[in-house]
Amino acid sequence: MNAPDAATKHGLRQFLPGLRLSVVALGQYPTPVQPLAGLGDVWVKREDQSSPVYGGNKVRTLETLLAAAQDRGQRRVLCLGSYGSNHAVATVLHGRRLGLVTEALLFPQPPTPTAADNLRVTLSLADRVTALRTIAAFPWRAWRAGRGKDCAVIPPGGAVPLGALGHAGAALELAAQIRAGLLPSPAHIVLAVGSTCTTAGLLAGLVLARHLGLWPGDLPRVHAVPVTPWPVTARFRITGLARRTLNALAHRGGPRLDPRRAAALLTLRHGYLGWGYGRPTRAGLAAAARFAQLDGPPLDTTYANKSGAALLDARRPLDGPVLFWATKSSAPLPPPDESQLAAAPAYLRRWLARANGVNLR
Ligand SMILES: Cc1ncc(COP(=O)(O)O)c(C=O)c1O
Repeated sequence: MNAPDAATKHGLRQFLPGLRLSVVALGQYPTPVQPLAGLGDVWVKREDQSSPVYGGNKVRTLETLLAAAQDRGQRRVLCLGSYGSNHAVATVLHGRRLGLVTEALLFPQPPTPTAADNLRVTLSLADRVTALRTIAAFPWRAWRAGRGKDCAVIPPGGAVPLGALGHAGAALELAAQIRAGLLPSPAHIVLAVGSTCTTAGLLAGLVLARHLGLWPGDLPRVHAVPVTPWPVTARFRITGLARRTLNALAHRGGPRLDPRRAAALLTLRHGYLGWGYGRPTRAGLAAAARFAQLDGPPLDTTYANKSGAALLDARRPLDGPVLFWATKSSAPLPPPDESQLAAAPAYLRRWLARANGVNLR
C-alpha cells in the first residue's frame, strides 16, 4: 500500500526537496548494489528487487506516472504494451494497490515462456484486457481506448519525461551509495534499452547528480543495449527523451541543465537484438545461464538476457568498474486465475500454448 515514508526516500525528493513532483511510494529503496562475483570488477544495481510485489525498472516509472494520475483524480489506468510486457504486469499489480481500475491494450509479440508468464498475470488480474491480433490496429485502438477524462494512458514503457524522472532519482540514489562506499564509482553502466525511458532518465539523473555535487569522480559511460529495432531505440529518441526529462526537471523547480552533457554519456551497443523484439538469442540464453551460475539477478529473454550478453562481451575491453543495471523483476509472480485464462479468446489461448512449447535450449 501507499507507504509515505518510502516516498521521502525517492532520490529526487531526497536531494531536491523543493521539486514540484508527486511521487507515490511503490518501491523499496535504495535497491541494493552488489558485486557479481567471478567477473572481476563487475557490480549489479539490483533494480530487480525494487518491490516484492513486482520489481524491475518499471516501478520507478510508475511512481511518478501514477501519482500524476491520482493528482488529476483519474480512477482508471490504461497501459499499452506487448502481450508479455513487464510494464503491463507492473502497472496492473501496482495500480491495483492504489485502488485504480487497471486496463491493458496489448499487441502481439513472439511467444516465449517469459512473455506467457506475464500475459497470464495480466489476463488474470487486470480489470480489462484488449489483446490485439495485429500491431497494425494498435495506434488507432490506443487513441480510442484512452478517451475519457478519468483514464490515465501510459504509453509503452512509460516513456515520457515524467516516467523518466523516476530513473533520474535512481541515479541520485546510486551516487549516494557510491559516496557511502558500497561500490566503487562505475566507469561504465550497462543496461537494456527498449522504450528508452530508463536509459533517458538515467542519463538525465547522472548529469543532475554531477550538478548537485553528489557524483564522485567522472560520470560513467552508459552502454545501452537495444532490444527493439530502429527507430524505437534510435539514439535521437533516447537523447530526445533525456532532453525533455531535463526540461521537465527545470520546469518543476529543479536546475536547468545542458542536455548535450547527457547525450555525451551514451553509447549504443548494437548486435544483441537478434531477429527482433522478444526473440531469444543464443548469446542471451548463454548469458542467463552464466548469471545463474554466478548467483546473479534473473535475466529474461526479451530484455535482460540481451544486456547480460553485452555485459559479458564488454567487460574485458572496458576499463574501470562496470555496473550492470538489473531490470527484470525477481519477485515471484502471483498465480494465474485459471478461470480468467479459460475465458480468454481462442487465439490468445493458442498463443499461450505455443509459448509453453517453445524450447529454449
Ligand atoms: C526487464 C526490462 N528491462 C529493460 C527494459 C527496457 O527499459 P525501457 O523500456 O525503459 O527502455 C524493460 C522495458 O519494459 C524491461 O521490462
